Amino acid sequence: DDFEGHGVWRYAAALPFESGVSIQEGSTPLYEVPRLEDEIGVKTLRIKHEGMNPTGSFKDRGMTVGVQVAKELCVGRLACASTGNTSAALAAYGTRGGMETLVLLPAGKVAAGKIAQASLHDARILEVDGNFDACLDIVQELAAKGEVYLLNSLNPFRLEGQKTIGLEILEGFLADYDTVPDRIVLPVGNAGNTSALYKAFRELVQAGELDEDDVPKLTGVQAEGAAPMVEAIENDADEVRRWDDVETRATAIRIGNPVNAPKALPGIRETGGTAVAVSDEEITDAQRSLAAEGIGVEPASAASVAGLRKLRDEGVVDDDERVACLTTGHLLKDPDAAAAAGGDPEPVPADTDGVLKHLHQ
Ligand code: F0G
Repeated sequence: DDFEGHGVWRYAAALPFESGVSIQEGSTPLYEVPRLEDEIGVKTLRIKHEGMNPTGSFKDRGMTVGVQVAKELCVGRLACASTGNTSAALAAYGTRGGMETLVLLPAGKVAAGKIAQASLHDARILEVDGNFDACLDIVQELAAKGEVYLLNSLNPFRLEGQKTIGLEILEGFLADYDTVPDRIVLPVGNAGNTSALYKAFRELVQAGELDEDDVPKLTGVQAEGAAPMVEAIENDADEVRRWDDVETRATAIRIGNPVNAPKALPGIRETGGTAVAVSDEEITDAQRSLAAEGIGVEPASAASVAGLRKLRDEGVVDDDERVACLTTGHLLKDPDAAAAAGGDPEPVPADTDGVLKHLHQ
C-alpha cells in the first residue's frame, strides 16, 4: 500500500524516508517524439510526461514525501497556495493520509480540472481576490501563526520527492543511449523543479555517480507575461524582481515571485543552462505539436517545448544535442484551453444520410 520500492520510492536512498503516503506516483513515461525531434532539429528529443502521475501532475512526487512528513509531525491541517495542480495533489494526498486540507486559489485563474479535483478530494477551497503570489503570502503567514502546515514548494521535503524526476530522466537516457541528456528544458513557475533537479544532480556528483561536466544544462521556460526568472538571467542579476502584474493563458505558471529563485538561479547558471520567455501563441502551437504526437499536456507544460523550439531557432541549442523536455501536467487539467486550441465539434443530424452529406460537403 505504501508503494515501497516503486516509482518515487525506488529512490528511497535519496529521500528522507523508506516510504510515504502514496498513490503510486512516479515512473512516468519518457516518450519518443520522432516527428517533433525532426522538426525542431535536435539529435534526440524525449518528453518526460509528468501529467501521467496519479493526480495528473508532477506535484504528486513532492506530496508523497511532504504529506508523510506532516503525518509524522502529527499536524492537523495541511495548506497550500496554488495555481491549481498543487491544490489537487495536496487534496488527494492529504485525504489519503487522513488529514484536513485547506487551499488558497487565485479567483478566476485556476483551470477547471484542478478545482474539480481539489473539491472532490475534499479540500476546503478559499478563492482569494488576488493572484497566486498574494495567496502564497497569506498561507505563509498562516503557517507562521501555527494555523496550518505549509506544503508549497518552499517546503524542502516536497523538493526531495521532485528530485526523482531528474533521476528517472538520467536513468532513461542511460538505458537508451548510454549517456545522460545534454539539456533538460522545463517550465518555470516557482522554480521548484529547477531547484530540485539541480539538487539531485549535485548529490550525484558528490557521490561520484555523475561527472561534473555531464550535468544536464538546466533550461527554464516562462510565459512572456510572467517571466521574472528570465529577466534575472538575461540581466545577470543576483536577485529576481517580483512582478506584480502577471498574465498568461498558461495559468499554472502565472507567477510573479518565484520563491525558489535563490536555489534555482545557481542551478541554471552553474549547469550552463539558460532561461527563455515564450508567447501564449508559441505555447499553444507547442501544445498542438505534442498533441499531434498523441501526447496531451496542459498549456504550462507545452512551454518547455515552445522554449526549446525558440532556443533552437536562435541557435542557442545545437543540432547535435540530446534533450529532455519536461511536460508537467495533463491535458485534462485545463479542458477549456485544450478545446480552444483544438477544432470545434460539427453539429450533424441524427441520421446516416445526413452525416454522409455533411462529410462529403
Ligand atoms: N507546470 C505546471 C503544470 C505547474 O502546475 C507548475 C506549478 C509549474 C509548471 C511550475 O513549476 O514551480 O516547480 O517552477 N504549479 C504550482 C501550483 C504553482 O500551485 O500548482 P515550478
